[in-house]
Amino acid sequence: MEQKNVSLWSATAPSPLFESLRSGTHVDVAIIGGGITGLTAAVLLKERGKRVAVIEKERIGSGESGNTTAHLTEAIDARYSTIARTFSKEAARLAADASRSSINQIESFVQRLNINCRFKRLPGYLYTEKRSDIAKLKKEAQAATEAGLAVKFIEEIPLPFATRGGVRFESQAQFHPREYLVALAKRIPGDGSFIFENTHVTSIKEGEPCEVESQKGPLTADFVFEATNIPIAGFISLNLKDAAYRSYALGYRVEGEHPEGMFWDTEDPYHYTRWQETDQGTFLIVGGADHKVGKEEDTEGCFERLGEYATEKFGSHPLRYRWSGQIIEPVDGLPYIGGSGKMFASTGYAGQGMTFGTVGAMIVADLITRRTNPWADLFNANRLHARGALKDFIKENVDFPKAIIADRVLSRDVKSKETLDVSRGEGKIIAVDGKKMACYRDDSGRLHAISPVCTHMKCDVHWNGAERTWDCPCHGSRFKTDGAVINGPAKQPLEKFEVIDVDPTLREPSSS
Ligand SMILES: Cc1cc2nc3c(=O)[nH]c(=O)nc-3n(C[C@H](O)[C@H](O)[C@H](O)COP(=O)(O)OP(=O)(O)OC[C@H]3O[C@@H](n4cnc5c(N)ncnc54)[C@H](O)[C@@H]3O)c2cc1C
Ligand code: FES
Repeated sequence: MEQKNVSLWSATAPSPLFESLRSGTHVDVAIIGGGITGLTAAVLLKERGKRVAVIEKERIGSGESGNTTAHLTEAIDARYSTIARTFSKEAARLAADASRSSINQIESFVQRLNINCRFKRLPGYLYTEKRSDIAKLKKEAQAATEAGLAVKFIEEIPLPFATRGGVRFESQAQFHPREYLVALAKRIPGDGSFIFENTHVTSIKEGEPCEVESQKGPLTADFVFEATNIPIAGFISLNLKDAAYRSYALGYRVEGEHPEGMFWDTEDPYHYTRWQETDQGTFLIVGGADHKVGKEEDTEGCFERLGEYATEKFGSHPLRYRWSGQIIEPVDGLPYIGGSGKMFASTGYAGQGMTFGTVGAMIVADLITRRTNPWADLFNANRLHARGALKDFIKENVDFPKAIIADRVLSRDVKSKETLDVSRGEGKIIAVDGKKMACYRDDSGRLHAISPVCTHMKCDVHWNGAERTWDCPCHGSRFKTDGAVINGPAKQPLEKFEVIDVDPTLREPSSS
């Protein structure tokens, strides 16, 4: 049996259905987004006596928190040696402290709320297969030690293939993220608090009270927390300081013994590996093949390349689940968390969104309840760029104007003769009577045509064949083939077109 594009987490842990928005509700804090950031903030705030409403456009845990691989680690993508250089040694110490505290926070919920999510402490290894990377890793071990972490450089990595050594991080953790999130979610409704699912927020107006508009009606709140992975209203500068990447994961059913640990290599893009017990048995999870959203034409090839890597390194096992999701890279390496007045946001977690999402929830809960927080200044969403970050800011945003120009030029070249020459399962941008359309033909032969112009800031979307979605290369918004928003910052769907399909042969059932 091979299953396509389903994450191990959603396949192995059911989630209860919550109601849609009750129009006219007022709460102390409206939290938009039912991922790890939103649900953690909701539980923390409710425990401090606040009435909260988590408003989720689909189901809780259906965003990136359901597409994660859930390594809970202090090893950050930005590297402690880099943070110490570009921010300061004190910043590296605070980032380490925040990461460690978030794992402790998760563990404390697991113990205190009696959550059965297979939480387990184990070591993490940042390793290399290249001799040329050894010096860099020794430097990272030194910087992480100075930042206060229990790490050391070791020669032998417990993997079934040859490596050149790496940094061992003690007492990291892993869990089943959906089992954890469902347990958190169940604590929220009641005593004036709510979870509203299938409720897409379309606008937020700051005020007294703040007004949240959704497709299911309005809600008011004293504070609003955008826990949407990337902000959807206000916080425009954060959309420009974040870059969205897609990352891919494969879940193989395995038997017998396996190494005890979580593993990340030094390739670019890097591979990440761990094992997970579930009700369906043990799975090897291998992730990687990252690319900027909308910039990889052969998205199916990403899964294939990752599969070849997994087989070469770990042997042949039955592939049961494969999935992908969005990683939000901050321009200077650290997340952006905070806000002013009544509105808060938390984003830019890179590959550490399980831990930094928890940190975001802890900081925003403290800001709303007026408690001091040791990391709030470091992660302040309005901070100035760290040294060297300007270069990355320009590099990431170069896609914004370039994508518009490239797409406009392309559209002039498209002949309307090609119109509607779209095979089943294929998506194409084509021009009909001078009007560009994003066309997709489904497996039954029906053509779906929508505007390719992203409703965020008007870049053109690109086809993602592996997931059958339209992805925007500028700030990472993604859309279903009917135009509905999958990932922000876009809030509005792509405009739908009525098309007359002029090629009836394509409607005939396929012979395969
Ligand atoms: C393949 C992959 C592997 C990863 N591996 C790791 C890992 O090993 N360790 C780690 O720490 N991190 C990892 N990450 C990153 C981590 O999973 C994410 O950063 C984290 O889950 C983000 O959590 P979140 O709550 O901010 O966002 P999400 O979980 O995406 O939650 C945001 C929610 O907001 C909702 N929403 C958005 N817009 C609206 C709207 N307009 N109205 C209502 N609701 C809305 C979405 O539907 C979504 O459910 C990985 C990510 C991927 C994709
Ligand atoms: S996500 Fe910003 S223009 Fe599309």
